[in-house]
Amino acid sequence: MTEQSPALDNLLTESRTFPPSEAFAAKANATADSYAEANEDREAFWARQAERLHWDTKWSQVLDWSDAPFAKWFVGGKLNVAYNCVDRHVEAGHGDQVAIHWVGEPGDTRDITYAELQREVSRAANGLISLGVTARDRVAIQLQMIPEAIIAMLACARIGAMHSVVFGGFSPSALRQRVDDAQAKIVITSDGQYRRGKAAPMKANVDEALAGAESVEKVLVVRRTGEDDVPWNNGRDLWWHELVEAQSDQHTPEAFDSEHPLYILYTSGTTGKPKGILHTSGGYLTQAAYTHHAVFDHKPGEDVYWCTADIGWVTGHSYIVYGPLANRVTQVVYEGTPNTPHEGRHWEIIQTYKVSLYYTAPTLIRTFMKWGADIPAKYDLSSLRVLGSVGEPINPEAWMWYREHIGGNRCPIVDTWWQTETGSIMISPLPGVTHTKPGSAQRPLPGISAKVVDDAGNEVGKGGGGYLVLDKPWPGMLRGIWGDDERYRETYWSRFSEQGYYFAGDGAKYDADGDVWLLGRVDDVMNVSGHRISTTEVESALVSHPTVAEAAVVGATDPTTGQGIVAFVILRGDVAEDQARGDAAIQELRNHVSKEIGPIAKPRQIMVVPELPKTRSGKIMRRLLRDVAENREIGDVTTLADSSVMDLISSGLKSGSDE
Ligand code: WT7
Repeated sequence: MTEQSPALDNLLTESRTFPPSEAFAAKANATADSYAEANEDREAFWARQAERLHWDTKWSQVLDWSDAPFAKWFVGGKLNVAYNCVDRHVEAGHGDQVAIHWVGEPGDTRDITYAELQREVSRAANGLISLGVTARDRVAIQLQMIPEAIIAMLACARIGAMHSVVFGGFSPSALRQRVDDAQAKIVITSDGQYRRGKAAPMKANVDEALAGAESVEKVLVVRRTGEDDVPWNNGRDLWWHELVEAQSDQHTPEAFDSEHPLYILYTSGTTGKPKGILHTSGGYLTQAAYTHHAVFDHKPGEDVYWCTADIGWVTGHSYIVYGPLANRVTQVVYEGTPNTPHEGRHWEIIQTYKVSLYYTAPTLIRTFMKWGADIPAKYDLSSLRVLGSVGEPINPEAWMWYREHIGGNRCPIVDTWWQTETGSIMISPLPGVTHTKPGSAQRPLPGISAKVVDDAGNEVGKGGGGYLVLDKPWPGMLRGIWGDDERYRETYWSRFSEQGYYFAGDGAKYDADGDVWLLGRVDDVMNVSGHRISTTEVESALVSHPTVAEAAVVGATDPTTGQGIVAFVILRGDVAEDQARGDAAIQELRNHVSKEIGPIAKPRQIMVVPELPKTRSGKIMRRLLRDVAENREIGDVTTLADSSVMDLISSGLKSGSDE
C-alpha cells in the first residue's frame, strides 16, 4: 500500500450522512430489497435485468464461468445492440422523442429524435457495408463530441463490426499504436474540431498517424469546421457526408450472439503498451442499461440527462451511448470545454434544456469551485434531481460543494466507482435508497460483489484497508485484452489467483459502517483529471528524447486534477551545458511528451536531477520522489543503494512548469 496518499486517511472520519427525501424514495427506480434479491440468486437477478432488452433469441444459460477468467453471459442469446438502443424505441411509438440535444461549442445546436437517429445510423451502417466492412472488422474512430461520433459507434454495433474509439486529444503516434494493435480497416475522423473558441485541425494529425499503416483501407472524414485546405489522400479518403447521404435510410439489423465482440477500448496499464480492453454485447448492454436506470433513477420521457464525459473514454461508451440509449434517454451532448465562451456554460445548458440528471468528474467540480459559487448561482438549476461523479475519489469538500451549490441541497449524489475493464458502474449509492456519505462510493450495487482484502487475500474488517477485488464475475466485465490472453490473466487474475479474485489495482478501505472508500491506484498508474496514464508510458516518451538519459515519473497530489505528473530526468552528456540551456530545455521536454502521447500526459513539472533513487536491485523508489514532488520531508531511505542520492537530488533541483 505504499502508493497511497496519507492525506486520504484523514477523510475516513467522515460521519455526515444524507438520507433521501421521502418524495424521492417513493418514486425511485431502485429499491432497498434489490440487494437481498440479488444476493439470493445473482444469476436470476441479472437475467431479470437482461429482460429489459430485446432479444431475438433468448439465452439458454445465464453465466458460463467454466473457462474462467473468460466469462460468457446469456449463453446462446442473440440480440442487436443498436436495435436495442434505437429502433425498438421507434417501434414502440417514441420516434418523435428527442434522443440527443446536441450543443456545439460555437453555439450551433441540433436536436435528433429517435426516428432521425434510426435513419442516420442505418445510412451509416449501409455506408460501412458499401466499403466492405463486415462483422468483427475493426473501425477506429477519432472524433470530437459531435453526433457523428455516436452515429458511427452505433453503425458499427449494428453490423457487428467492432469500434475502437481513440480520444481526440491523443497524439498521432498514440493513434497509430492503437490502429496497428487493432488492425483497423477503417478510420473515422473529422476535418477539425472547435476547442476554446478556435478551430483546430484534426485530419492532418490522422494523416501523420496513418502514414504507412497497412491495415487501413479507407478514412472517413466528417466535415465540422469546414476549412478549405483539408489534406486529402485520394483513393483512401472519403467525406462522411458524401458516403452516407448516398445511402438508403433503411437497414435491417442482424441479431448477433450475446458474446459477439462490441468494442475495443485502449487504456493505460503499468507497462508502456496500452491494453485493448475487449467488451462484448449482451452482458455489457444489460449492466450498462440496468446501472443507468438504477444509479441515475432515469425515467424515460421525463428526465433530461447529461453526462459530460468524452466518447474517447469508457464513461462516454457506457453512459452516453449504450446504457442511456438502451433506456430511451433524452440527453444533452456538448461539444466543447466548460469555460467557452464563459465559465457558466454548463449551468446555462442545464437551465436551457432543464437537465435533471448530471454526471461529471471530481476534477471538473474542483475547477467549478475555483471559478466560484457565484457563477452557478446566476442560473436556474432547479431541474436537477440526481448528481453523479466518476473517475477518481471525490474529496468530501468537493462533494459538499457539489451538493450545495449545484444540487441545492436536494439532489442525491452518486459517487460511482468502476473502470474501463468493468464496463459499467460497480460500487455506488442508489438514489432514493442509500444514505449518502461525502467521499465514499459506499457499497457494491445489487448483483455485484466486491471486497477489500489484505496481501494474503483475506477480507479485512471494518476500519481496515487493503486492495479492492471483485470476487464474482459480472455481466459487463471485460472479456480479455485484445490479442493477449496471457496479459489478461497476468494483469487481473494473478495477484489473487488462489482465490480467483479480479484485482482492480485500487487501494480501498472499509469505514466503521462497512462502507467502501476508494484510495487511489496501488500500481504505477496515475490518475490525472480522471484519466489513466501509466508512469512507464511517460518515462518512455521522455527517454525517447535525445537529451534524456533516464527518467522517473510520479503522480503527485494536485488540488484540481487529483494527481499531476511530475518527472525527474537525468540528462545525457554535458549536464552543465544542458542546465545552462535551462527552462527552454525543460519546456521542450514537456512538449515532447505532449507530442508523443497527447496533451493530457504533459508533465506538470520536470526536475533535472543528477541521480535517481534506486534500491540495490535497481528499482526506482518512486515513494521518495513523490515526497520531493509533494514538498514533504523525505521518507525512509535505508533501502537505497546509495543513501546520499536524495541529498543530491534535493540540493541541485532545476525544474520547470507552467505555473
Ligand atoms: C480508475 C479507472 C470509470 C470511468 C472513468 C475512469 C479510478 C474511477 C472512481 C471513483 C475513486 C475512481 C480508479 C479506477 N476511479 N471512478 N468513483 N472513486 N476512484 O475509468 O480510466 O478505466 O480508470 O479510475 O482508480 O481504477 P478508467
